[in-house]
Amino acid sequence: MMESNILLDLKDVNKVFGTNHVLKNINLQIERGKFITFLGPSGCGKTTLLRSIAGFYTIDQGEVWIDGKLVNDLPPYKRGTPMVFQEYALFPHMTVFDNIAYGLDILKRPEGEIQQRVEAAMAQVKLTGLEERYPHEMSGGQQQRVAMARALVMNSPIILLDEPLSNLDAKLREEVRVELRTIQQELGLTVIYVTHDQLEALSMSDQIVVFNRGKIDQYGTPHEIYYEPRTQYVADFIGTTNFEDAKVVKYEGGLATVQYGQAGDTVTIEAREHLAVGEEVILCVRPESLRIEPSETSDFHITGIIKSSMFLGEKQRYFLVDEVGKEWIVDAYDIGKKVYDGIVQIGAAADKIHIIKKNGS
Ligand SMILES: Nc1ncnc2c1ncn2[C@@H]1O[C@H](COP(=O)(O)OP(=O)(O)OP(=O)(O)O)[C@@H](O)[C@H]1O
Ligand SMILES: [Mg+2]
Repeated sequence: MMESNILLDLKDVNKVFGTNHVLKNINLQIERGKFITFLGPSGCGKTTLLRSIAGFYTIDQGEVWIDGKLVNDLPPYKRGTPMVFQEYALFPHMTVFDNIAYGLDILKRPEGEIQQRVEAAMAQVKLTGLEERYPHEMSGGQQQRVAMARALVMNSPIILLDEPLSNLDAKLREEVRVELRTIQQELGLTVIYVTHDQLEALSMSDQIVVFNRGKIDQYGTPHEIYYEPRTQYVADFIGTTNFEDAKVVKYEGGLATVQYGQAGDTVTIEAREHLAVGEEVILCVRPESLRIEPSETSDFHITGIIKSSMFLGEKQRYFLVDEVGKEWIVDAYDIGKKVYDGIVQIGAAADKIHIIKKNGS
């Protein structure tokens, strides 16, 4: 039999706490060697799913497969899925070495093997020489790397990280982020990383799983999640998006012509899903895809009045209101000193507009 490239396979996973149905029919397949991010707002079930994979929670329904093995009935230490927690990181009374060796001690591995594996893990996270330090003698970033080494030393097929960087300041966070991604790629690790920070998810992941109240709304590459959100929820959660209601008037060969706005203008856009004529849809346009004073030939246009704007360094962000009172956000880059004012046309090219179905969620 060929070795499957699927390392983690979740089938119809459900978890209920009392009357709170926290995970609803989670189906997810994760490939070997990928950096996967679980993204979603507080309370959507990210930690619960991670703990269910690691075996700290028993699921109420469904199956968890790791490396071709059904692990529903296995305790955490038999699953080979070490988890780095957000809230608790290291044992304060143990040296760095002992912290990292902890999991191997529990498995009662021989002394020599422990020594060798801990040293290898410490080298991987660039902490060699700090074996005898205590956690309080290390920086936040170093402590985080110890936590990583503690997971790495187990030679596990998969590592679960629950918001591991949330206690670090912005600069350190970015440094450790880069380090984490580098280690993951160098060693070909499979990592599941939980965060509610969209930028972190976009910048680190091979694939992002977007959670919406215990369900998966979308599973895709950062590019797909950003430019081709499947639902309004995803579009709204990742970055800033402008929405415009529209109606399909023609659909042919993957191209949808839709009608929008007061004057009933139309624009023809590539559509990934089949759309019915007469169907209500939502057009999504990112602020950076809109131009103020677009050329005559611009495919999509709206008239609006500028209400305010702010200078954000690399861009000027404008807040407009259109003819029906809806707000639009437009980002103008590389603007020099020009600042727009009053009534303007804003527009975008058709290939910068993304269609989603209205029944999405
Ligand atoms: N042990 C528990 N007992 C009862 N309810 C729980 C338990 N753990 C989590 N919950 C509930 O399950 C839901 C999901 O919680 P979870 O911790 O998975 O969210 P999260 O997405 O990790 O959020 P955050 O970003 O704040 O960490 C919440 O409504 C929470 O109150
Ligand atoms: Mg959590």
